[in-house]
Amino acid sequence: MGDWVDVGSASDCAPGSCIEAVVGESIVVVVNVDGMFFAMDGICAHQGGPLSKGVLSGCTLTCPWHGWQYNVETGQQLLSDTIRQTVYRARESGGTIQIQLPNP
Ligand code: FES
Repeated sequence: MGDWVDVGSASDCAPGSCIEAVVGESIVVVVNVDGMFFAMDGICAHQGGPLSKGVLSGCTLTCPWHGWQYNVETGQQLLSDTIRQTVYRARESGGTIQIQLPNP
């Protein structure tokens, strides 16, 4: 598995909120669902909207541009079986959010 990289302070991503991070060459949205961190591709598959500016409700993240919704655990777009964002493993360690890089 890939290395874990620090992407921000856990205090900057309270429960129910999102932050944007850069992992390698990818823009990622990190979300906090009741203290659990999840991360997925931060660019909406529709027209490239910034998912970190979206609205999180439970495990559902809604894009701010046209309302596409994703399950942040799986990356699945909720109205399509074929659209799925890349997801990353995320964790909190010592007050820092970490994301695992994809396998090289
Ligand atoms: S860009 Fe996200 S719903 Fe259109």
